[in-house]
Amino acid sequence: MSKPKVIVTRRWPEAVEQRLTELFDAELNSDDTPLSQDELKAAFASADAVFPTVSDRIDAAVLSAEPMAARLLGNYGVGFNHIDLEAAKSRGLVVTNTPEVLTDATADLAMTLLFMVARRAGEGERHLRNGAWTGWRPTHMMGTQITGKTLGIIGMGRIGRAVAARGHGGFGMRVVFLDEYPPDAETCKALGAERRDTIEQVLAEADFVSLHCPGGGANRHLMNAARFKAMKRGAFLINTARGDVVDEAALVEALAAGTIAGAGLDVYEREPKVTPALTKMENVVLLPHLGSATLETRVAMGMRVVENAEAFFAGKTPPDRVA
Ligand code: DGY
Repeated sequence: MSKPKVIVTRRWPEAVEQRLTELFDAELNSDDTPLSQDELKAAFASADAVFPTVSDRIDAAVLSAEPMAARLLGNYGVGFNHIDLEAAKSRGLVVTNTPEVLTDATADLAMTLLFMVARRAGEGERHLRNGAWTGWRPTHMMGTQITGKTLGIIGMGRIGRAVAARGHGGFGMRVVFLDEYPPDAETCKALGAERRDTIEQVLAEADFVSLHCPGGGANRHLMNAARFKAMKRGAFLINTARGDVVDEAALVEALAAGTIAGAGLDVYEREPKVTPALTKMENVVLLPHLGSATLETRVAMGMRVVENAEAFFAGKTPPDRVA
C-alpha cells in the first residue's frame, strides 16, 4: 500500500523530519521558505495531509482548493486562530493541534519576559554592551521586585496554570485570574489562585498581567486603551498568547504615557512586523515568538503531529482533534 502524501510547510527539527519520511511520502521544506497563499492552496489540492504552522494563514481562499485532496490538517502548534476552522470543516478536513507538550516551555518564557522587564535585563545588557556602564552605584537601574507581588492571569488553561505555579511556588506571588471555566478549588488552592469575575478586577489588583487566552474572535484587542487605564500604575503586561489580544497602538500610548510601567512581548499583531515605536522603548522586552522554542519542545510538537496523523491514517480519531 502506498504511503499517504503529506506536505510540511516549514522546516521541522531533524528527528521529526526523519520520522515523517519513514512513515509518509513526505514533502519537506528544506530551505524553510514560507509558502505563498497559492502554494498553500496547491498543497491542499495535491496531498492527503498538510502540516502548517502559525506562520501560515490557512484561510477560506486557501481551503477553497479544487479538488480538495487533503483530508487532514495537522497543525504544528497549539493555537489555531490562523486557521479558518469553519471553512476546514466545510471542506471535510479533520484538524489537529499539539497541546500539552509546549506548556512548560511557554510558561518558562512568560516568566523570562516577566523577569527581564521587571529587572530591566534587556536594557541593562544593552547598557553594558554599549560601554555605558561606569560602575556600581546605589541608584543605578533600579527595577521592580517580583517576589511577593500579585500576578494576574488572563486565561487559566494549561499554560496559565503553569505560569501561576511558577509565580506562586517559586516566587511567593499571589495569583488572581480570569477564566470562564476555572480550575477546581483544590487546584486553585495549590496555585494560591483566586478567581475574579471581570478582567477589570484582575487588572486593578495585579502587578504583572500575563495573557494566556486564545487569539481572535472576542479576544481581539482585549487589552485596549481602557484596559491599560484599568491596570495599576507601575504594573507590567506580559504576552505570550497571541498578538491580536493586545491593541499594539494603545499599548504604545500606555507605555509612553506611563499608564503602565512596561511590557514583555513574544507575540505581535502583524508578525513578523513589530510596531516600530515599541522597538525604541527601553521599558519593553521584545522576543521573536519563542514561547515553544526549545529543542525538546519543538521535537515533541512534531511527534505529536505525527501521532495524530498515524491515528488518522489508521482510521482512528486523532487524539488532538479540534475539528
Ligand atoms: C503555538 O503553538 O500556538 C505557538 O504559538 C507556536 O509555538
